[in-house]
Parts: sequence; C-alpha cells; structure tokens
Amino acid sequence: MKHFKRTTITTALPYANGPVHIGHLAGVYVPADIYARYLRLKGEEVIMIGGSDEHGVPITIKAKNEGITPQDVVDRYHAIIKKSFEDFGITFDIYSRTTSETHRKTASEYFKKLYEKGEFIEKTSEQYYDQEAQQFLADRYITGTCPHCKNEHAYGDQCEACGTSISPLDLINPKSALTGSTPVLKETKHWYLPLDKHEAWLREWILNDHKEWKPNVYGQCKSWIDLGLQPRAVTRDLDWGVAVPVPGAEGKVLYVWFDAPIGYISNTIELLPDTWETWWKDPETRLVHFIGKDNIVFHCIMFPAMLKADGSYILPENVPANEFLNLEGDKISTSKNWAVWLHEYLQDFPGKQDVLRYVLTANAPETKDNDFTWKDFQARNNNELVAIFGNFVNRALVLTHKYFAGKVPAAGELTDYDRETLQEFVNVKGEMEKLLENYRFRDALKEAMNLARIGNKYLADTEPWKLAKTDMARVAAIMNFSLQITANLAIAFEPFLPFTSAKLRKTLTMPSFNWSDLGSIAILPNEHPLQQPELLFEKIEDDVVAAQVQKLLDTKKANELNNYKAPAVRETITFDDFTKLDIRVGTVKSCQKVPKADKLLEFTIDDGLGGRTIVSGIAAHYKPEDLLGKQVCFIANLAPRTLKGITSEGMILSAENADGRLAVITPLSEVLPGSEVK
Ligand code: 2FM
Ligand code: ZN
Repeated sequence: MKHFKRTTITTALPYANGPVHIGHLAGVYVPADIYARYLRLKGEEVIMIGGSDEHGVPITIKAKNEGITPQDVVDRYHAIIKKSFEDFGITFDIYSRTTSETHRKTASEYFKKLYEKGEFIEKTSEQYYDQEAQQFLADRYITGTCPHCKNEHAYGDQCEACGTSISPLDLINPKSALTGSTPVLKETKHWYLPLDKHEAWLREWILNDHKEWKPNVYGQCKSWIDLGLQPRAVTRDLDWGVAVPVPGAEGKVLYVWFDAPIGYISNTIELLPDTWETWWKDPETRLVHFIGKDNIVFHCIMFPAMLKADGSYILPENVPANEFLNLEGDKISTSKNWAVWLHEYLQDFPGKQDVLRYVLTANAPETKDNDFTWKDFQARNNNELVAIFGNFVNRALVLTHKYFAGKVPAAGELTDYDRETLQEFVNVKGEMEKLLENYRFRDALKEAMNLARIGNKYLADTEPWKLAKTDMARVAAIMNFSLQITANLAIAFEPFLPFTSAKLRKTLTMPSFNWSDLGSIAILPNEHPLQQPELLFEKIEDDVVAAQVQKLLDTKKANELNNYKAPAVRETITFDDFTKLDIRVGTVKSCQKVPKADKLLEFTIDDGLGGRTIVSGIAAHYKPEDLLGKQVCFIANLAPRTLKGITSEGMILSAENADGRLAVITPLSEVLPGSEVK
C-alpha cells in the first residue's frame, strides 16, 4: 500500500434545504468520522472538511413556497445541520458553507482559470423560458404530463409517479411552476466540461489503477465510462449561485455540481489560508471523498475531470461511497418526512448519540442498501451495548472497587487460561487496522465488540467473586487483566463511540489514548487510581420503541391524507341505471380461506332468502374470524361466477383506501338480513 504523509478527508456537503437524518449519518458522516478519529489516534496528520451545500434549484423552490429568500432558507438549515453534527461528535476541522465569500471567490476563480485555459466548450441550445417571469426555467420549475405514464404532475427532470427521468422537452403540455403560463423555447448559451475528452485517462485511472475501490463504486464508474462520456453543462440560467465570471454570462450561475465540490477546497482555504495547497496539491497527501451512492458520478468522474483540467491538483485516492439506508422498509425521504431526524432523535434519546452511532455502523449500508428498524435499534442496544460491553466494564470496575479500593491491583503471573485469552485479542490491533484502512467499518466495529465479548467470557470463566475468600493474589491478577481489557476497549471504541470512550477514559483516569497500546495488557500501571464507574448504556424499553414506530405510522397516515387524490367521477348514469343494481345487507354465517388461493375468502351469507355463497378477494385484508357474524353489503343480482371451483353468487362491497387497503362496507346499525340498500 502506498504511504502518504497526510490525509484530506472530505464529506459530501449536504443541501441546506432540510435538517439531517440517520441516512446522512450512516452513509457519510459517521464512517468519515471513524476514519478521521482512527488516523488521529495513530498520530497521523489529517483534516476533515465539511460544510453545507447552499446553492441549487431545490433551495430556491423551498424559498418560493415559504415566501422567504433562499438566503433565509440556508441560514436556517445550515445552523440546524451544523449543530446536529456537533451534537453527534462529528469532528470536522471546519464546517463552512458555499455562500461564504471565500467560496464565492474560489469557485469563481476556478471557473475563470479553466475558461482561460480553454477547458470548456460553449454551446447554444433551446430551453424553456417563462415570458411572464422573464426568466429561463430550471427543469424542476417546469411541470406537465409525463410522456410515459401520463401523470399530469410530472417535473421537467423526473416523473415521480413512474420514476422515469425525463427531459423538459418531452413533457406534454408544459407549464411554468412560477406563473402557470406556457413557457416558450428560447436560445441560451452555456459552458460545458467536455467529459468525452477526459474519457481515456479516466478509464485508465479508475478501471485500471483503482481496482481496489469498493465494488459498488467501481461498478458504477465502469458503467458510466462504458456508456461513453458526454460534455456536461457547468452553468445554469438562475439567479441563485456563484455568478459566471466571464463576459456575456449575465443572469447565469455556476451549476451547483460544479460549485459544490470546489466547496471542499474553499473550506480548506478558510481553515488553512497559508498551507491549504499542501492538502490539495502535494502527491504525498491522500485525498478521500466520503459520499453516498447518488454522488458517485460527480466525485469519480466530474470533479476529477475538473481537478485534472486545472492541472495543479492531486486526484482522490479513494471514494468509499456507501449505498442507502432505508427506514422501516421504505426509502428515506425529506419531502415525505420519512426519516429519523437527528435533532429529534436527541430530544427523544438525550445523551444516546453513541447508541445511534453504534447501530448505524453495525448496520451500515457499506455494500448494499440496508434497513434501519427501531426493533433492531433496541435489540442492538439491549443485547450488545448493555449486555456485552456495558456489562463487562461495569463488572470489572465494580469488583475492583469492592476488593481493591478502586486501585489497579498488581498483575500476577499469567496462567495458561490467561495466555489463551490474551492470544484471542493480541491481534485485534492489526485486524482493526486492516479493516479500517480498507473502509470496512462494520467489520472493524465487530472486532472491537469482540474484545468486550472476550472480557465477559474471561470474568465468567475465572469467577473472581468465588476466589475472594481463598486466593486474593489470583483475584488481583484477574482484575488487573480485566482492567487492561477495559483500557483496550476505551482505545478500540474511540473512533466509533467517542462519548462512551471519553467516559471510560475518565473512569480509568487515563490521561491520554495511544492506538499503539491496543492489544497490550500493560496499559494501566499497578496502583493506578480509578474513579467510580458511570453507567455506559441503559436498556431501552418496549414502550419507548413503540412510540417511535407510532410516530412513523402517524407520518405515513399524514402523507396518505396529504397526497390522496380521489379518482375522477365516472360517466353520469340515470336513476334507472342505478335501480338495476340490487344491493342488500346480509349477515356472515361462515367464512373461510379458499385453499390454494391467497386472496380469496369463501362466505356463507344469510340473505333472508335461504342463504348464498359469495367468494371475495379480501383475504389479504381480513382474517375469517374478523368478519364472522358481521353484516356486509353485497350485490345480489350479479350473474354468478365460478372462482377456484366455487360458484360465487354476488359481490361483497368494500371501499379502497389510497394505499390499496380494503375496508368492508357495513350498515351503521343492524338491519334484518336481506334488507335493500337504496
Ligand atoms: O447530494 C447532496 O446532498 C449534495 N449536496 C452533495 C454535494 S457533495 C459535494 F460535491 F459538495
Ligand atoms: Zn410518469
């Protein structure tokens, strides 16, 4: 592996149009923080750069919807996001913003240099223009009918009903979201980065020189490159962003994906105005971008092409992008409020930052999308953090206080069993290093947890409490050994659970940590004083988790209500048409599942006329016992049909909810079987 003198870690700049949630933390910021803390603990030189991405169309839309300025929007969310990251112990060396003056100047000069070097091509194309508002329309500002599924509310870049990405020119009946008017096509000039010209070296650099990149990252790059790279516009007609600094570009700004990655550089300049170049231009610097999978193309293809076009920068050594974290089976969505927001989590679970950091790392979407569930959160807290880590540390400390007045007792001669135990964790340092340096944080965390498991087993097997009456020298040796494991835990967990590790360090009166001590059983000297133990973790009860699940169910319900569009009313019918339908009330006498048919239930209905059989496709919504004895409405004069060999004489009426759930129709008060519905 190549040796580097220092590491520049960048973390995707989140859009400042909403707070941050568990998906952000799991995908980018916790892994980056683990990596940064690990390198620092090893005494390496490292900077971790963060900041808010404050330009782009969604921010202008949010501002417009709320009747405030884009600056108001980003001021609000930048503060919330920054605080959430601080609260969760994400150790940025700087967390700045792309509306800073340093950024505006850096991005503007970056563009200018490339422009002057002739690195762009200029192209004129036709784009939609709103004559009333006198401005060009960003794709998101144009709505119309989707050419694929005919959804009437598709956007100019994507139809959310069928998920297809579309071009605004394909929309049927386009309308401006600004004024509702029909936009016209008008010529406009833009600057493009000719990615096609960069294709050859990009192919070589990624597909040949970086075969070690994570398969999900490598695979995505390969498919982009194999498709053939096209010139990409790096300017937009918009009034929110960094102005394009060349003549004839009035009313144009840098495309947000051109300006945002430069934010990494400008934030480094803000942090280290005199030495920033070392962190971006010295080949002995390792540049690593932590991002989510939706950002891969921008960080592996577009930004490297920008860096190469400038010519004075190093390229990223790795881009360890994560996949997505889902929430209780559904994709996390800011607009649908389907998320666990970090600031809300801390209101509900004050002081439990490390529990979330632990769960998100143990279940990190490193190689595939993963699901966060509150049940798993509870189980990992109760069965792993409390029962293994917390339990071991607490026993080691409480027993030492009991038998040795809170001082580290003298180490003894190692027994064979002690040596065997030591053998089990002596390699933990090397193992963890290998995993951490390959961005495999889940497995590295498992190694750390394994150390706590070893400690637990050691105490359970040696049973010092039984020896206390007969062999205090051996009890001292056991407790010394256990305390050394505890000190190992404080070191091994520092990158993952920094708050817990700090508590532990305080209790162990350890003035400093040293990564190189990991695996040693001589960290704490004899007679070293210990403090009273603090509880590291506490059990999370069922009702607490149930309340979180309920909160999500309420969100789902609210979304359904907000989004539901009742189907259009069908063609008008006459009263005579209506009277042709003979709708009756009947009482369910028996109900059972139809064998080999998942959806069907077979009913015997008392219809006041001797009874009838009806087969109905509602088995996914009701269990037979739910309906037994209940009154239902059915169409009595429907021609009989045979389903799975059963003749069905009618149809039971249900209402269909937006989510497809069926609710059987029943009269408000009981009536005689066979009563007509009029
Ligand atoms: O996807 C996003 O949230 C973007 N705002 C990430 C930008 S990363 C970088 F380029 F700044
Ligand atoms: Zn569609």
